[in-house]
Amino acid sequence: MMMMEINSEIVPLTLTIKGGVDKEGHPDSVSEIDIAPGEIIGIVGPTGSGKSTLIADIEQFAFADTPSGRRIFINNQPPAAELRSNPRKKLVAQLSQNMHFLADMTVGEFLRMHAKSRGKDPRLAERVIALANTLTGEPVNPAFQLTILSGGQSRALMVADIAVISDSPIVLIDEIENAGIKKQEALRLLAGEGKIVVVVTHDPMLALMASRRIVMKNGGMTKVISTNEDEQKVFRDVERLDGWLTALRETIRQGEVVA
Ligand SMILES: Nc1ncnc2c1ncn2[C@@H]1O[C@H](COP(=O)(O)OP(=O)(O)OP(=O)(O)O)[C@@H](O)[C@H]1O
Ligand SMILES: [Mg+2]
Repeated sequence: MMMMEINSEIVPLTLTIKGGVDKEGHPDSVSEIDIAPGEIIGIVGPTGSGKSTLIADIEQFAFADTPSGRRIFINNQPPAAELRSNPRKKLVAQLSQNMHFLADMTVGEFLRMHAKSRGKDPRLAERVIALANTLTGEPVNPAFQLTILSGGQSRALMVADIAVISDSPIVLIDEIENAGIKKQEALRLLAGEGKIVVVVTHDPMLALMASRRIVMKNGGMTKVISTNEDEQKVFRDVERLDGWLTALRETIRQGEVVA
């Protein structure tokens, strides 16, 4: 098998989506797309065009057994059954919109438990919290109860947890526009760890961070756009603008006057 062992986790070399059909049964115009480790790939398209469905196909390792008829290959082969079921070998992590922690535990306890369940050093919990605190404006303390975390704190923790503990090589993100975290830093962090990051977004900054984006229409994958130098110029402007807006927001939050 062409599998690579890193940190005792299996890391796929490529993720392949093989086309299926759109809502009317017409074949996807994109018949196959290969995605490499460290790549950020966007999914765009109007509401109802099938973005979440494509994410779900990847999450489930569809094998012509979903309405789209798509198939997912890892390293050019159908993923083994064990990769779908064994949580220690789970290849896919999903960053969801809503996170509700029901457990009556502190952040530190929860992360140590998670590390142990993954066969890892519980001291990694500290690294997760430090990393999360680079992504959120409201620092998380290991002694906090999980249930009091804000949406932004929860998502920052989840990103850091995926980067440090879960290290699932594929991360799926379905719209984090209002996540309350430094989104572009979260994407860079995950892609920088060599993960494949698949992100549904129309936020210009996030969409332009993707090297390619899959355009959905009527349930089908209609085309793949590779970003170009002109778009990257726009991206740098958008990033500067975003930095400026973030600084203004912080000034206002601190109760100061905007100069
Ligand atoms: N290839 C397909 N074959 C059959 N049904 C599909 C296909 N793609 C999407 N659908 C169906 O179309 C509906 C809308 O799809 P989906 O929720 O994925 O759209 P979306 O782009 O995520 O929309 P939104 O922007 O509102 O989140 C769903 O009921 C889904 O099951
Ligand atoms: Mg959706």
